[in-house]
Amino acid sequence: MKFNRRSFLAGAGVIGAGAFTSYYADWTAADAAAERQPLRMPPLIDARKEGNAVALHVQAGTTEFFPGRASASLGYSGSYLGPSIRVYQGDDVEIAVTNTLNEDTTVHWHGLLIPAELDGGPHRIITAGNVWRPALPIRQPAATLFYHSHVHGRTGVQVYSGLAGLLLVTDEAERALALPSEYGVDDLPVVIQDRQFADGLMVVPQGMMTMMQGRRGNTILSNGTPNATARVPNRLVRLRLVNGSNARIYDLSFSDNRTFHWIASEGGLLDRPISVSSLTLAPGERAEVLVDFSNGQAVSLKTAPDTNMPMMTGPLAKARNFAKEILGGQGETVLQFDPVGGHGAPSKIPERLVERPRADPSKANTRRRFVLNMGMGGMGMGGMMGGGTDSGGGMVINGRPFDMNRIDEKVRLGDTEIWEVSGEMMSHPFHIHGVQFEVLSRNGGKPILRDAGTRDTVVIRAPVELLVHFNQPAEIAPFMYHCHILEHEDNGMMGQFRTI
Ligand code: C2O
Ligand code: CU
Ligand code: CU
Repeated sequence: MKFNRRSFLAGAGVIGAGAFTSYYADWTAADAAAERQPLRMPPLIDARKEGNAVALHVQAGTTEFFPGRASASLGYSGSYLGPSIRVYQGDDVEIAVTNTLNEDTTVHWHGLLIPAELDGGPHRIITAGNVWRPALPIRQPAATLFYHSHVHGRTGVQVYSGLAGLLLVTDEAERALALPSEYGVDDLPVVIQDRQFADGLMVVPQGMMTMMQGRRGNTILSNGTPNATARVPNRLVRLRLVNGSNARIYDLSFSDNRTFHWIASEGGLLDRPISVSSLTLAPGERAEVLVDFSNGQAVSLKTAPDTNMPMMTGPLAKARNFAKEILGGQGETVLQFDPVGGHGAPSKIPERLVERPRADPSKANTRRRFVLNMGMGGMGMGGMMGGGTDSGGGMVINGRPFDMNRIDEKVRLGDTEIWEVSGEMMSHPFHIHGVQFEVLSRNGGKPILRDAGTRDTVVIRAPVELLVHFNQPAEIAPFMYHCHILEHEDNGMMGQFRTI
């Protein structure tokens, strides 16, 4: 990244947006010329081999993201991120979560279809020194799921610091396909996160701009590795791409523009692979893809520039656009691949994957509308900036900020509904707990390619219609729905529903 700090500061000075100047200057201060590192691989825990009893310790520690520079960080049974836990459809898996931090936490099993009291949302707090032992019934098709902290008001900070990991559901249908599935060899989890580093140490951004945009960073990590390189076999490899960032949306493609094959969305395998040359991935979203490395050539996974900023007007918009130009550049490398063994035999992509029953839109008996709002329509950013606090800021859904003690929606258990969701100011990844849904329409038209499959998270701005099936009880605790830009969520862009 070429960055002329002086001209940027001078330019921003002219338009008089001090807060923005320092914000973006910090953001671009990372040293881009660091050495490559081997892709770190979260340890795999196969729940069956552990008798379906797994232990996780929520702990504070230090992580050398850059050699010799120990950053304070959080992790599950490790210093940053957590183990990948493989679970089997049909099993009940007890996970004993011990909180060794000196603050509250929760562990939410994002994407798991389980009753609300097991879901680990903001109501299921694990206080310092205590243990929570949910027994999770695994009753859904193979999929890549994502566990992470969900303690209200601190989700953003805890996840940014490292509290996230993967849950890999497997089933017979998936195994019968003989997809690449040797963990860490030809089946690689890739948790993509942007983090802020200053002088080689991770810092957790704070402040007004952070709250508006969501916490971002000047360095892209894959499984906690900056400048990561993965050695892969010279054949078909499965990547489980997970956007574990707090706020950033990636637009991923390969440096040689090769085609790759999207095989699974958040809800699991698609009915057939979809060939793509790029794929967007928003916070909370996961996509499994097959990539053919049989030509033996090194290649990198890249992302297009970060452009999902709140829409602003006036001088602040100028500062933003100016910053965007500087930050944009050619995009960034996420992860480099070094195939081993030279030229290999070209691989065959399966033609069909799984048959999944389709939900029937004519069964939907209720329609609900949700608008994700940043609460400053008309008044512009200027008024907000004046306040300069880190709290509030008008993050709401349908005009109301999140309230732990208010149930926003009551849904009949077993029902199928249409949820029409739209967002203001910028794109928002909308997530619903305890369900899977399909995209029925986008902006009044057909869904886009990327809307395929069953999902639990979807990027919205213009109205999107979701066909949602509710089959998990929420009597003891409610389920959440929210923006997965974690700072929006922490600041109120969240609601809760019961199924009764
Ligand atoms: Cu991944 Cu409610 O969150
Ligand atoms: Cu969730
Ligand atoms: Cu949002």
